[in-house]
Amino acid sequence: MSLIMFWTRAFCVLLVIITVCHSDSPVPAPRYILNLDVAPEKRWNDIVSHWNLTKIHEELAYVMKEEIPEMLVPVVELLASDIDKYIPEPYSSEMVGVAKAMGIKLGDIVTLNLLYDITASCTSIVAEDSNGQIWHGRNLDYTFTSILRNLTLTYDAQINGTTVFTASTFLGFVGVLTGIKPKVFTLSIDERDQGELWENLIELVNALLMGEASLVTLLSRDAMMKANTFESAVKLMSETQIVAPAYYIIGGVQPGEGAVITRDRLTAKDVWRLDSKNKRWFLVETNYDHWLPPPSSDDRR
Ligand SMILES: *[C@@H]1O[C@H](CO)[C@@H](O)[C@H](O)[C@H]1NC(C)=O
Ligand SMILES: *[C@@H]1O[C@H](CO)[C@@H](O)[C@H](O)[C@H]1NC(C)=O
Ligand SMILES: *[C@@H]1O[C@H](CO)[C@@H](O)[C@H](O)[C@H]1NC(C)=O
Repeated sequence: MSLIMFWTRAFCVLLVIITVCHSDSPVPAPRYILNLDVAPEKRWNDIVSHWNLTKIHEELAYVMKEEIPEMLVPVVELLASDIDKYIPEPYSSEMVGVAKAMGIKLGDIVTLNLLYDITASCTSIVAEDSNGQIWHGRNLDYTFTSILRNLTLTYDAQINGTTVFTASTFLGFVGVLTGIKPKVFTLSIDERDQGELWENLIELVNALLMGEASLVTLLSRDAMMKANTFESAVKLMSETQIVAPAYYIIGGVQPGEGAVITRDRLTAKDVWRLDSKNKRWFLVETNYDHWLPPPSSDDRR
């Protein structure tokens, strides 16, 4: 089931069209400003204030019950009780703040952030048209779409009134699965399929407890803040240690600027680039390594 269809035009003008698809007609996601000049613990308050929290509590309780293996709960509680140690600033403070604003336990916010980190089963495409214009599109497939559609939003992260990056996300999630840095690069993340969800979650928590590694979606948010060129984004997302395997799909603003980074935990296993001179004018990434045939049960290429 397709939750989000998202196309970006990364050249000069910023154009984002986000709709939430469902059996009934698509509705645009609400759009807000995330003011990065506000202290991390308080910066999500304004966005959260637009939601009916009673309804959110019911919906999130359902996600927690259906999606999260029970054995994980005490481990995440432990992690949450010492969050500064495992999640770097400003993200740990943002998680503390957004949990407070939403009136839910910090452990639940941490769990949801971990869940989104590794369950992005989806398709991303980056392509170059005959004018050298780069296009980047993605969809996102989750199992609990009827709930996620009610949590979907777009925000413009601003410093001193200027947008640093724009992301499409879910309420309570501080990482970036889908984002644009205007005039610099676009980014989407696809899960790299490696067995059962609960096994992946446990490995992820282990990696986090050992330290040194970034959450997959926090590294992409770092890139949104720090990378000022397409190549520096590719470098950062290829070389920084992360907690789980993943695919980073990146589009730029110049001809040739498009890449799929196949990530192992420690480093990139492969960087696959656009090469229109040799007829490679588009790259399609689902949830399998591009140099291998996809399983016949899930061939979305
Ligand atoms: C908020 O959601 C609850 C539960 O779904 C509902 O009963 C209540 O009427 C809603 N409040 C508003 C202001 O819409
Ligand atoms: C999502 O929100 C709509 C509109 O408020 C509501 O009708 C629907 O029941 C909600 N979905 C879930 C799963 O709560
Ligand atoms: C913030 O913006 C204002 C008005 O545009 C400008 O005068 C000021 O120098 C900016 N401050 C910083 C820290 O960039």
